[in-house]
Amino acid sequence: MSEKSQFGTKLGVIAATVGSAIGLGNVWRFPAETQANGGAAFLLLYVACVFLLGIPVMLAEFSLGRGGRSDAIGVFKKLSPERPWWLVGALGVLASYLIICFYMVVAGWTLEYLVESISGGLYDAVDAGEESLRAAFTSKMSEYVGDDLRPIFFTYALIALNIGVLLGGVQKGIEKLSNVLMPVLFVILVALCCVTLTLPGAGEGVRFFLSPDFTKITPSVVVQALGQALFSLSIGMGILITYSSYYPSTTKLTRTSVIVALLSLLVAILVGLIIFPAVKSFGLDNEPLRGATLVFVTLPEVFARMPLPALWSTLFFVLLLVAALTSTVSIAEVSVAMLQDRFKMRRRKAVLTTMLPLFVFSALCSLSFGSLSSFTIFGYTIFDLLDMVTSDIILPISSIALCIYMGWFAPKGFLSGELSNKGELHSRWTRPVMFIIRYLAPILIAMILISNCI
Ligand code: PHE
Repeated sequence: MSEKSQFGTKLGVIAATVGSAIGLGNVWRFPAETQANGGAAFLLLYVACVFLLGIPVMLAEFSLGRGGRSDAIGVFKKLSPERPWWLVGALGVLASYLIICFYMVVAGWTLEYLVESISGGLYDAVDAGEESLRAAFTSKMSEYVGDDLRPIFFTYALIALNIGVLLGGVQKGIEKLSNVLMPVLFVILVALCCVTLTLPGAGEGVRFFLSPDFTKITPSVVVQALGQALFSLSIGMGILITYSSYYPSTTKLTRTSVIVALLSLLVAILVGLIIFPAVKSFGLDNEPLRGATLVFVTLPEVFARMPLPALWSTLFFVLLLVAALTSTVSIAEVSVAMLQDRFKMRRRKAVLTTMLPLFVFSALCSLSFGSLSSFTIFGYTIFDLLDMVTSDIILPISSIALCIYMGWFAPKGFLSGELSNKGELHSRWTRPVMFIIRYLAPILIAMILISNCI
């Protein structure tokens, strides 16, 4: 097998990892949960969860990947060959593959909305008059998403884009893509923020977002913030292990994890500063901001009420597409790396073996909103079932197992060796990180699992 690939630059390491972390979790899950759970109170809780739980668990994955220099299954086989710990990695690979099946569909919608924003088709509804805008965008959404063929076409386009990037390899594909797209994402975010913050009445939206209502914090809100922190940092999916296996041996893991977490938080805050002032300004804040409806109905309604709707809408959907694309590439890479390392496949064959079945699986997920909407398993459509099984069950289990392995069973001194780059750096963080990974993280994540199951 050829030499293990590596990211070429420090910037590439950060851009690729941040690219994975910033996804639909930041753009639509975060604002919806913030609105429902006390504005800034939820934000503070989320920040605490990111630092207390997210960064340590991230460091566990980084150490495994960089120290084991293999795919998500291979690292366990290398470090503990005599025990079946590789099953923990296998769970991450399974989760990542199930997630990509439905995430690709949503990524396809973002491309569909981008095309409709550029062509102006989305804003035909503006002619319908102010009162019926909501109804108009809601029916647009069912038209765009509920059709059988159109969303499948856009999902296929996204799969093809992913194949193109993945075939380029780690440096020329993933790293290059992230280096170009991450700055684009930040520029668009800041531009949109400037626009929405100057809307009339924007201040009140900012106030809601930044002034805490602690009465809304209940144990179940804490569990939600924990879950959001894990999902948003791409934990438990094998992604961080896979990407960190491409980190050079000089990469400072602690610093990288803090930068990635801070940038992901910054994006969530900027998104909040776009969404809350905008919905407040147009009086759209009286109903719950629900994930898909927020981005595909509420925001188009906001844009329609502003001058130059097609421009803002195009910028926003480019942003969403960038967030989705860098995340889909990272999650697909988990299986690609696994096939390369475990089955000694060449990259090309590994990419095609991972991606071609998605033309069937993702199409089935897409049809969950069309012809297969009444086909349910345990009361869930295929799309919802995959979403529920992965987010609520597999991800928490794989994260707990990962912490137990790192905390109790990994070779002695392994974590401190990685955090200190084999003794070259002085790492003050090993002890607190180890404490969290051993005790706190498994208990907190078990709470998420239990609350998801009852
Ligand atoms: N952090 C990502 C997000 O917020 C999680 C994710 C990564 C999901 C990759 C799917 C694929 O969306």
